[in-house]
Amino acid sequence: MTDNLELSHQKERAFQPQRLSAPRDFAMPAAVLKPESALVLEIGAGKGKHALSFTMQNPDKHLIAIERTRNKFDAFEKMAAQQNSVNLTTIHADAIAWIVHAIAPNSIDSIYILYPNPEQHNPNQQWLNMPFFEFLLSRLQAGGEIILATNIETYMDNAEQQANEIWRLPNTRSQVASSSHRTHFEVKYLARQETCWQLSMTKPEGYQTRFDKWAIASLTI
Ligand SMILES: C[S@@+](CC[C@H](N)C(=O)[O-])C[C@H]1O[C@@H](n2cnc3c(N)ncnc32)[C@H](O)[C@@H]1O
Repeated sequence: MTDNLELSHQKERAFQPQRLSAPRDFAMPAAVLKPESALVLEIGAGKGKHALSFTMQNPDKHLIAIERTRNKFDAFEKMAAQQNSVNLTTIHADAIAWIVHAIAPNSIDSIYILYPNPEQHNPNQQWLNMPFFEFLLSRLQAGGEIILATNIETYMDNAEQQANEIWRLPNTRSQVASSSHRTHFEVKYLARQETCWQLSMTKPEGYQTRFDKWAIASLTI
């Protein structure tokens, strides 16, 4: 990768994965232990509307959908049990700790972050502002994509700027079609005639992070 990349995100404070304990009742899912198809992550899956339709439409991919809020996760899990898709794993956990403990470097095909909490009063908690984002990029395969959607224009402006200036990721910003209905929040915002945006970021070949060889001990045995 170019010197420019090293001068950008590698100057930032580094994420410290070794400090994170495994989530309570952590167990490695079979889809991760013996992947049979491309692995896709969804962070903050809510009640799982996107996860349930994605798995129906993409039988060749396995989606791991993570949600930390108990009542949303319970609603999601109930629907997932009814649908019974073999290519869906539902996880009730904080996505940061769970990904650190479960996911190997360069192993993920794509990552969805749809309508994340706006964090307007705490911008350092926005996904592209977090040191964790470098770790997340290390888990993505070269050519893999991160898809972020939001109805908050300032969130999107900042994400696009961070993608360009800090993370140096080729990206495309687009407006979400008013007919789209991927998630409960998307349906709500578009029904109110709000504009929703999407940023699709690609990890280039040869992209380097400080975590490309880092994996929790249990992943390396
Ligand atoms: C605004 S809601 C959007 C839910 C869903 N994606 C949708 O569009 O309907 C954001 C969700 O992200 C979840 N979330 C936020 N941070 C998370 C984290 N670190 N790990 C897992 N879930 C998280 C929240 O619990 C919440 O359900």
